[in-house]
Formats: sequence, structure tokens, C-alpha cells
Amino acid sequence: MDSQDKIRQLIDLREQAKMGGGEKRIADQHAKGKMTARERIEILLDEGSFEEYDMFVTHRTDDFGLKDKKYLSDGVVTGHGTIDGRVVYVFAQDFTIFGGSLSETFAGKICKLMDQAMKVGAPVIGINDSGGARIQEGVRSLAGYSEIFERNILASGVIPQISAIFGPCAGGAVYSPALTDFIIMSEQSSYMFVTGPKVTKAVTGEDISIEDLGSARIHTTKSGVAQFVVEDEEEGLLLIRKILSYLPQNNLEDPPLSDCDDPIDRLEDDLNIIIPENPNHPYNVKDVIYKVVDYEEFLEIHANYAKNIVVGFAKMGGMSVGIVANQPTFLAGVLDINASRKAARFVRFCDAFNIPLLTFVDVPGFLPGSNQEYGGIIVHGAKLMFAYGEATVPKITVTLRKSYGGAHCVMASKQLRGDINYAWPSAEIAVMGPQGAIEVLEGKKLAEIKNEEEKSEFITAREKEYRDKFANPYEAARYGYLDDVIEPRNTRFRVIRALRTVATKKDPGPMKKHSNMPL
Ligand code: HXC
Repeated sequence: MDSQDKIRQLIDLREQAKMGGGEKRIADQHAKGKMTARERIEILLDEGSFEEYDMFVTHRTDDFGLKDKKYLSDGVVTGHGTIDGRVVYVFAQDFTIFGGSLSETFAGKICKLMDQAMKVGAPVIGINDSGGARIQEGVRSLAGYSEIFERNILASGVIPQISAIFGPCAGGAVYSPALTDFIIMSEQSSYMFVTGPKVTKAVTGEDISIEDLGSARIHTTKSGVAQFVVEDEEEGLLLIRKILSYLPQNNLEDPPLSDCDDPIDRLEDDLNIIIPENPNHPYNVKDVIYKVVDYEEFLEIHANYAKNIVVGFAKMGGMSVGIVANQPTFLAGVLDINASRKAARFVRFCDAFNIPLLTFVDVPGFLPGSNQEYGGIIVHGAKLMFAYGEATVPKITVTLRKSYGGAHCVMASKQLRGDINYAWPSAEIAVMGPQGAIEVLEGKKLAEIKNEEEKSEFITAREKEYRDKFANPYEAARYGYLDDVIEPRNTRFRVIRALRTVATKKDPGPMKKHSNMPL
């Protein structure tokens, strides 16, 4: 073979690898409304930036007729490229080769990529579309999964890890995405479950469809396993680019600073009238968020799960911030198990990656009831408390209206090392709402009053007294639990100035191996 033949051979091999499992399987993939692994990578990365590794890898199994069935790249496309000019590492499972099933060599490719991403300090993006463990490889495949899991764990909190699920993701295979920071699922073609419908029926007798067990809808509304649902793959890939625009490359860097032409001292008169006169009437806290952030752009996370709390990323004066806000339009913004878990995970993510936290508080307390108590609200509420109390990133809190009881303490209060705590004049900070307080304080007296009209007058008078005392921010401000009471329309400016002021804060906790957070 002369040198020109050798070059031709290389080109042929590359072409062969790019055809994955062959034309027919690519056509099948397209017929299902799915892209191939390489098509996905092309949309994800900056044009022309992808450099593929290990294209010539094949599996090493001869059993079950696999000796003569070898495909270049062995079912996963790996490499690096850039997103908005910043390096990322990516692997995309190729369903056209053995259904994207994971072999020993397939796992080796992913591990090699993750090891390099850790050394470089760059995010890892995994695109999942796989039939799970390669059955013919048995325990070697399981070992391969475990190798990946361990790397997901070691990378957690060091480099951002994002998973897209664009096809099947079943059995233990679900645990790699579950160990990453964000999961995006496509609406039509993805599903995730530990045990599929057939085994579920055999073991428990429950008859359930794939959709009802593990679709994107289920995981973004009921289980909370996935943070995002997208209509199609392209939307999911562009979403990954968007998420990364808020994140640093790794835990030793700060998030990227964006250009900001949106005036930081923009006054928003609407905020002065957004809180309804009646404290039991809701308003949409997202309207507050949109008014204070740059260009009214807010990337909500977990938008369809635990809607009583809103979390997501925005920029303020060009800086990335993680926003947490109680949502009065849903369950009156109460904290329950799911809301606590959702927000706690988000707070920990932001803290790990140096993203300051901005918290908007309007919380009537924790949701009462046996469902919540039996489900362990004590420990789940403690998660959010722990996450806030442990976080050392800048923490700015704005109390908009209610801040009652234990939920007051949890929501980035001053005593949980809140850096700057503001309140609007509409803030009410107390042990509980007036109704509950009067029930407890005047129980005996209320039992004695037999006349209903008299009872109602008595309650109204006592509630007024209670409101006059606590339904304002000044009681808390008098003790320094609030740093200032601010005019709502000036919130954007005050928060941005606060963020800039405390940007360089250092507040490390005591040395320890790790905490024992309430899991
Ligand atoms: C080897 C596999 C495979 C697997 C699919 N294929 N899954 N090969 N190991 N796990 C192959 C098929 O033989 C077929 O090869 C090609 O991929 C496409 O598969 P189809 O069945 O034709 O595709 P489709 O009809 O779309 O069905 C997709 C599927 C189904 C639902 C994913 O293939 C399936 O049920 N696969 C098995 C899923 C599973 O039980 N996996 C193990 C889970 S347990 P040809 O040559 O015909 O194109 C697990 C443990 C992990 O993963 C533990 C980690 C700790």
C-alpha cells in the first residue's frame, strides 16, 4: 500500500465510521423522528469545532455471533468541541449500532473522555439513546457502567454534567444521567425507568404503559427526575447551549460575565403595585423575576414540577445568578416535600459552581398534613435549610410578602448566613399567620364565646392587633434581621449593587470530610 493508498484507507475508514450501523438503521432512526448521534453533535457544538476520538474502536466480544459483527466506534461517538467558544466534552450514544447498548469498550471511550474533561476542567454532555447493557457482554458491561458512575460521582461539583435523553434509557443505565446535574428529555421519543412495563407486571401485577411509567411528561411533572422537557431534539440541544451560558467551566472558575446594555438602575413602577391589598390574593412571582433580571430573560428549571417554588438562572448586570422564589399562585407558595427537594438541589448546584443566589420570599409556611409528615417533610425541609446554610456563594434575599415560621428561617434568612437581606414594605415576618396565631393564643377565650357574631368580632380585633404588630418588615429590621427595607421599583438596582459588593466574599466553614446532610 503506498502513501496515497494509506490516505485513501483513512478516508474510507472515517466514512465507514460515520455510517454507524448502516443506511437501513439510520433510516429507521429517522423514521422514529430521531437524529443520529453525529447529527445531534453537529447541532450542539459550534460549527466545525467537533473533534472525534476513538473512531476506530470496536468491541472485543466473539460470543453470540459478534465475531463478525464489528462496527467502528462501537455505538458511542465521543470527542470535544466548543459551545460559544468554550471547550466541552461530549458523548452521544449511537442507537444504530447494537441499539446503542453499552459494551466494555463503549464504556472505556466514555471514561477516557470524562477523565480528560476533569483534567482540562470542562463540562461533559452526554446524549443518551440506548438499549442498556450489551447483553452479549454480561458482567463486563455492568463493570463498564460502574466505571462511568464512579466518574460521574467524582466529577460532581467539579465540572458541570448535563444529560439529554433522546431515546430509551432503562435499567441501571438511568443512574449515570441521575448522577449528573441536569436531565433534558424529548417529549416524543424518550423514556427512563429502572424496571420496564413487562417486569413491573410480572413482579407486582401492575399493568402500566411505557408512557405512564417513564415518559418525559412523568419525569418532569411527577417524579422530578428530569428538569426539562423539550418538544424535539433540536430544541434540547439548543437548550444545553443556553444552560451552559450561565455556568463556569468548572468549580474553580467564576461564571462568564455577559455584556449588559440593560440599565442596572432601571426603575420598575409596576413592582410598587404588584402585591395585592388582600394578603390572601396571589400574584405571579415570575412577573417580579422578569422585571428585575437583564432583558427579562429567565431560564426556569423544573418548571412543571413543584410549581409552588420557582428556580432558575438569569443574568443581572451581566452576572449569572441562581434565583429561588416562592410562587403564591400555586398552593399559596407553601413549602412542601417536593418544593424543598427541588430548591435544595438547585441551591447546592449554584453553590458548587460559584453562582450567587437571589431568593424572593413569599411563603406562608410548610404544608401541614399527614401526607407530608409521613412522607418525611421534616427531613426534606431540612434539606433546603441545609443547602442554604451550607452555601458560601453570595446570598441576597428579598422578602416580598409573607415569611412565616420555620419556612422563614429556611428561605435564606439572615441567620443562615444571608449576606444582604432586603424586604419590601409589604413584608410580613412572624411565627405564623394571624389566623393560626389567634387560634393558638385565644383558644380558651374563643371556646367561651358562644355568640357567633361576638366571636367573629373578637377574632377580627385580635387579628388586627396581630397584623399591626407583625405584618410589616420593621419589627425584623429593628433587630437587624433585615439590612434594609427597599422600594419595590428599585429592586433591580439594589440587588445588582448588592451582588457586586459581595462578589468577593469568603466565608469557608470548618474543615471536614463532608457533611451529613439530611438525605
Ligand atoms: C445488545 C441490543 C440491546 C442490548 C437492543 N439491541 N438492545 N443489543 N444489547 N441491550 C439491539 C437489537 O438486538 C437490535 O439489533 C438493535 O439493537 C435495535 O433494537 P430493536 O429492538 O430492533 O429496537 P426497538 O424496537 O426500537 O426497541 C428498542 C428497545 C429494545 C426497547 C431498547 O431493543 C429492548 O428492549 N432492548 C433491551 C433493553 C434491555 O432490557 N436492556 C437491558 C436493561 S438492564 P439489530 O442487529 O437487529 O439491529 C441494563 C442493566 C444496566 O441495562 C445496569 C447498569 C448498572
